[in-house]
Amino acid sequence: MKYWKNVETDIGSSNMEGHNFSEFNHQIEDFELAWAYPFGDKSLRELIAKEYGVETKNVMVTVGASEANFIVCLALLEKGDKVIVENPAYQTLAEIPRGLGFEIEVLERRYEDAFEFDLARCLEMMRGGARFAILCNPHNPTGVATSENDLKEIAEMAEEQDSYILADEIFRDIMSEGRPPLSYSLSDRFIVTASISKVFGMGGLRLGWVIAQEDLIEKFEGVKEYISVASATPSEQIAKLTFMNRKELLERAWGFVQNNRPIVKGWIESNECVECSTLGVVNFCFPKLIGVDEVQFGRVAAEKYKTLIAPGRFFGLPSHFRLGYGMRTESLEKGLENLSLALNETSS
Ligand SMILES: Cc1ncc(COP(=O)(O)O)c(C=O)c1O
Repeated sequence: MKYWKNVETDIGSSNMEGHNFSEFNHQIEDFELAWAYPFGDKSLRELIAKEYGVETKNVMVTVGASEANFIVCLALLEKGDKVIVENPAYQTLAEIPRGLGFEIEVLERRYEDAFEFDLARCLEMMRGGARFAILCNPHNPTGVATSENDLKEIAEMAEEQDSYILADEIFRDIMSEGRPPLSYSLSDRFIVTASISKVFGMGGLRLGWVIAQEDLIEKFEGVKEYISVASATPSEQIAKLTFMNRKELLERAWGFVQNNRPIVKGWIESNECVECSTLGVVNFCFPKLIGVDEVQFGRVAAEKYKTLIAPGRFFGLPSHFRLGYGMRTESLEKGLENLSLALNETSS
C-alpha cells in the first residue's frame, strides 16, 4: 500500500489487466436511482445464475467478494466454532474469522509440495471438530487449484459433520481449461464467493456475489441489510454488460495469461536467486527468494525501479513474493527487467 500510487509497474497484483468504461460504448439503458435491491438486480442475478448453472434464488449480489466473504462469516459462524484457514493465504480470509474472535486452525500449503492442498490434514481438522473452513480455489497467492476429487471428499466430510465450507472462487474463471467445478455444484455445504474484480480487472465496480442454498442466501441478505444494504445500481448495470460480453472478455484475459506464462517461467529459470515449485494455473505465482531479503528487495524494486511486488509476509510466508502476470506483455517484460536489477542489488 505504501508504494502503490508511486510505481509505474505493479507486478505483484492478482488482477487481470483492467478496462475502461468507454470500451463498452456506453451501452447502458436507463435505470432507477431511487432504490437498489439487497439481493441484487434481478436480471444481473439471472445472468450470474445462468453462467454458473444455478438458480436465481441461489445468488446474492455483493459489494465485491470482500463483502461476500465477510457476510458469510458473520451470518454462519457461531460462538465456539473452530475455523480452518489456509496459510499462506489472502490475508483477509484468515483475518475475518480471527478478527471476529473465533478459534483458528491453520492448514498449511507447503512450498516443497508445490503448494498442493493438504486434503488429509483438512479432513482430520474437520473430523476433529472444525465446523467451518475457508478455502480459496484457485488459491491466492500460490495460483494452485484444488482438484474435483479433493472437493468431493471435503463435501462428503462436511455433510457428515454438518459443517460448511466457504469457497472463495474469485480466480476460477481465469483458468481457460481444466477448471475445477463450481464447488456448490458438488454439494450445498459449499458457499461460493466471487466477483468481477480479478478476471475482468474491474475492481473499481465493487461487484461480487455469493452462491449458496436458498435459506443461506436469505440469512446473508439479512446481514447485508446491516452493512451495505444493497450494491450500487450503476455497478450492477455495468456488471450486466460484462456478463453479456463475457466470452470476449474471458478470451482477452486468457490470452494474456497464455502469452505471459512462458515469459515468467523463463525469467524464473534464468534467475539464480529465484525458484518456484509451481507456476500454478492462473495469472500469478509465488516464487521463493534465495539469498535475498524480501523486504529490501521489495523496497529497492519500488523506490528505485518503480516496480511493485507483493511481499510474502503479506500472505503469511516471508521469503516469497507474489508475481502477477495478467497484464500486457510489454508491462510484464519491463517489470521483470526491473526486478532483475533489484535482485542484482539485493542478493548476497
Ligand atoms: C482471494 C480473494 N478474495 C477476495 C478478494 C477481494 O475481491 P473484491 O475486489 O471482489 O472485493 C481478493 C482480492 O485480492 C482475493 O484475492
